Amino acid sequence: MTYDQIGRTFVDFFRERGHQPVPDSSLIPPPGDPVLFTTSGMHPLTPYLEGRPHPLGRRLVNVQRCLRTTDLDEVGDDTHLTLFQMLGSWSLGDYDISQSLRWGYELLRDGFHIDHDRLHVTVFGGDDQVGPDETSLETWGELGLPVELTREKNWWSNGPTGPCGPDTEIFVWTGDDPPRGSPGTDDLWMEVWNHVRMRYHRHPDGRLTPLRQPNVDTGMGLERLEMVLRGNRSVFEGDGLVPWVDDVCGRWGLRDEPLRLVCDHLRSGVVVLGDGVRPSNTGRGYVLRRLVRRILTTLWREDPSRSLGDLPSEPFRHTLDRFRQPVTVSEVRKSLSEEEQRFRDLLRRGRPVVSRRRSRGPLTDEDYRDLHDTHGLPRDLVDGLLSEVG
Ligand code: ALA
Repeated sequence: MTYDQIGRTFVDFFRERGHQPVPDSSLIPPPGDPVLFTTSGMHPLTPYLEGRPHPLGRRLVNVQRCLRTTDLDEVGDDTHLTLFQMLGSWSLGDYDISQSLRWGYELLRDGFHIDHDRLHVTVFGGDDQVGPDETSLETWGELGLPVELTREKNWWSNGPTGPCGPDTEIFVWTGDDPPRGSPGTDDLWMEVWNHVRMRYHRHPDGRLTPLRQPNVDTGMGLERLEMVLRGNRSVFEGDGLVPWVDDVCGRWGLRDEPLRLVCDHLRSGVVVLGDGVRPSNTGRGYVLRRLVRRILTTLWREDPSRSLGDLPSEPFRHTLDRFRQPVTVSEVRKSLSEEEQRFRDLLRRGRPVVSRRRSRGPLTDEDYRDLHDTHGLPRDLVDGLLSEVG
């Protein structure tokens, strides 16, 4: 199955069960949302999970672009991406978790042909505020899947406050040997699908109160599912990443982790730019700036003459087309080139300044503040320069 067929199979399965497709939103969440970027398919639906009637009804399905900066340090392994597509389904106060899990199991087994024996699940085991998720436990028991109970790992929230609830996660075995252990003991169990019983609201003082309606919110990583279905070793062999991997590797001969980091961050940066964000020193613009600087730092480690302008346009076009973004390849490339130039200039100016400060002794908080306010050098950049000057 191609990437597109996987998305269609998912959406069609839920449409046949009465779900209405919701269009993919941009990465910019609605006003009032506590996060900078959409990190899950539920973000654009927050008001409806909290009880406002959705114009399309109580059963929804979609494929939503998501960006997670919490996983930045894990990018480079086989399964983490900064930008990914989430396949999502929702019951807004309609059917319960048991129905959601039964459909989830049916789709994985009969729609995507994943062997029952390669599946394992985890379930919320209860804490001092909320009891164990008996319904999920019972449903998985009836479906005959092995279950592991956890606490923190099976609680999903959108941020420190807002809608949240216990979840149950479905893992697929990715090893060549027969499955062994459990998700908690063996990393070859890869999480693919999370079903959240979104039924609480967390208040700033930590209190939980029930939402007006008990919802089910599910999300499955499309690139991970593609990896499983195609028998790939990593998400970087998928349709959305291959054009980047081929061109970045072809141009600069990068391999392994640096190759993955550059490809992941380039693809993410292009989609963020396509959604209208421009590099800056605050908020979303700063996330974009950090992505670009991480790319450049990785490229320049071996050869400072490398430039993003060396790449062909093909992977840029491929990504912008896939996400149907209303910007041209040349606009995106221009923003990236300008940002590259700004970073080069900043490093050129910053190196002697940081080196002079360092010669007077270890940097204090006041030094960092002054370097930032007077010279425009953020702390992480100063730390990078310090590691150069030793
Ligand atoms: N909102 C849930 C998640 O992102 C489905 O995992």
